[in-house]
Formats: sequence, structure tokens, C-alpha cells
Amino acid sequence: MLILGIESSCDETAAAVWSSSEKRILSNVIFSQLELHAAFGGVLPEIASRSHLEKIPSVVQEALDVAQVNWKDIDAVAVTNHPGLPGSLLVGVTFAKNIAWVGNKILLGVNHNHGHLASGFLTLDGQLRQDLEFPCLALSISGGHTSIFLMTSPIEFTLLSATIDDAIGEAFDKVAKMLGVEYPGGPQIEKMAALLDNQDFFKYPRGKERASLQLSFSGLKTAVLYGLVNQKAYDLSLGRPTDLLTQELKLKVASSFQVCIRDILLDKIAFALQQHPQVKAVHFVGGVACNKYLRQAIAQWCLAHDKQLHISPPPFCTDNGAMIATAAHFLLQAGHRSGWDLDIGRNIKN
Ligand code: KG4
Ligand code: ZN
Repeated sequence: MLILGIESSCDETAAAVWSSSEKRILSNVIFSQLELHAAFGGVLPEIASRSHLEKIPSVVQEALDVAQVNWKDIDAVAVTNHPGLPGSLLVGVTFAKNIAWVGNKILLGVNHNHGHLASGFLTLDGQLRQDLEFPCLALSISGGHTSIFLMTSPIEFTLLSATIDDAIGEAFDKVAKMLGVEYPGGPQIEKMAALLDNQDFFKYPRGKERASLQLSFSGLKTAVLYGLVNQKAYDLSLGRPTDLLTQELKLKVASSFQVCIRDILLDKIAFALQQHPQVKAVHFVGGVACNKYLRQAIAQWCLAHDKQLHISPPPFCTDNGAMIATAAHFLLQAGHRSGWDLDIGRNIKN
């Protein structure tokens, strides 16, 4: 079976082709709208949906071309239908429904979070890993979500905890903005922290409930903000950094913030494993899983605690069609299908 996976839930227009017989991704094409949104410091929904509308036909065509398959060879069209920006989701879902209907293909709506989880099943060259162990503790961490799941199979997962306020990627982006760094700030914070060897200068609060699965990042964000305000490096009334924000202070804040995120994540993993000792592997996915410092910290933790690590390879961490096609492979195998009434919003496994 050949599956076309389409993703358009936020600011990436993406499509990929998956071969079920070869159990691998044949293509993975992503058009990122980053440049369109950079000047606004975040994603503008209206601009996002217009850009999806413009790009989706060519992105899908390129995915077929790179995979060297014809449209008639595709058996199923899988598309993200929840959660995400409504206008953006609508473009992908409407496009997928149309081409599936016209081409008489199977249609499947896929949950975006399930897609991220599935990205952890892949190797760097897009093969399905053969050594996956279940149950696993899955951390799905991006700009839109920070959730911990207990996964008992590639399609069965229970939410253990989700952030009650900011997502971790969002906190990276907001802290970066306080430092005058453009959206998306995550990769910049990582680079800045590396320049100071990821040292902890400011010992930001790790949260009151360290021995719990509670996830909350707005307190940390506020601590970073008021740390800067106290040093007169940020002007609250103008909502921007002042001239006293030196390069050295920027690097120290970035580094301390990133160490704090690492500590919180490792605390949560340790606590979750006390609660679920049957867990055999830790699964780390989502845009923030691109972060080499966090990847290494989690990998070291797994090594020390004799747990397998499933980690999304960097090209599959941020939003992409490969993760949607991979999730669809398992869902279709289990008999899931969507009807022509597929809409944005909750659906099978959503
Ligand atoms: O998965 P994704 O593309 O979109 C959502 O579904 O949200 O994730 C984007 C998020 C952004 O917040 C971005 O700053 C963060 O992932 N991110 C990173 C890194 N690369 C991307 N955060 C920390 N370190 C990185 N290297
Ligand atoms: Zn995402």
C-alpha cells in the first residue's frame, strides 16, 4: 500500500509518501512559512491558511515526484484533521478529501499528536525501526503541545499529563522574544546556550511539584522576564529589551533557561517511570526534540536507567507529512478509515 500523508495544521505545508510494503518513507516535502511569519513574532492564522492554499498542490506533486510514484499508485490519503489552526487544517482536509474522492482512494483523518508520536518510530533515512519496545513513555513537545503519554502500541496511547499553560516550544519562543531573538526562538536559544557550555547561572524555579506529572511553564517564563526586569534589561511598559541587555546576559539567560527545561523533563520522566515501572522505553518527539542538548540529556538518562530510547530523527521532529503517513500506516493496518464527512476536529483516535 502507498500512503500520501498531508500536514497543514500550523505553518508548514507538508506531504510525504509512505510505502507499507517497504515500511519506509519514499519522500518528505516541507514548505515552511517561517519567513512569512517571522516579522510578526508568531504565526498569523490568516496568512498561514492563504499560504497553505497556494502551496498545497505543488507540495503534494513534489512528494509524488520525489517518491517516483504516480498519483494512480497511491492507495490512501491521510491528512491531519485535528488539532491545529482551523483555517490551516481546513485547507489540508478539503484538499485531501477532494483528491481522495476524485481518485477513489481511501481517506483517513489523523490526529496531529499521533503523527508526532509516529515520527519516533522512524530512522534518520525514514525506515520503520524494527526494535521498538512497548509500553513506552512518550514526550511530545513542540510549540503547540507538551504532553506525556503512555503508549502501549503504535496506535494505543493514554494521556498522562499535558501542560496547563504554555507549551515548552512556546516558552522557548517567548524567552527568545524577551531576548530580542526572532521567531522561532528554540534553535537560537540552543545555539546561545551552547556558547556558554549550557551552564546554569540563574537557577530558575523548577516548579513546586517536582515529584508529580504536572506540567506548567508560565511560571518559568515569568521568572525569566522578571529576572531581566530586575536587571533593567527589559522594559515592561514598552514590552521589549533595553540597551542593558548585553550579549553576555542574553547567553546566560538562554543557557540557564535550557538547563531548567532539561531538569524539569528529567524529573517528569523519573516520576512517570516510578508510577509506571513496566515502561521499557522513552519516546521523545515534537519540534523541541530537535534540540541536541535535550536529546543528549534524555539519551544519557535512558542509558543510565536501562531504558530504550525512541527519538524522532531531526528531519521528522518539526511538522511534516512523513509522521502523518507513518501514523496512517498503523491506523489503516488496524482497519481505521474516515468517511467523506471527515471534518476538522475530533475523529478516529483523536
Ligand atoms: O512541532 P513543531 O514544528 O510545531 C508545533 O506543532 O508546534 O514545533 C515548533 C516548535 C517551536 O516552538 C520551536 O521553537 C521549537 O519547536 N523548536 C525548538 C528547536 N527547534 C524547534 N526548541 C528548542 N530547541 C530547538 N532546537
Ligand atoms: Zn506539531
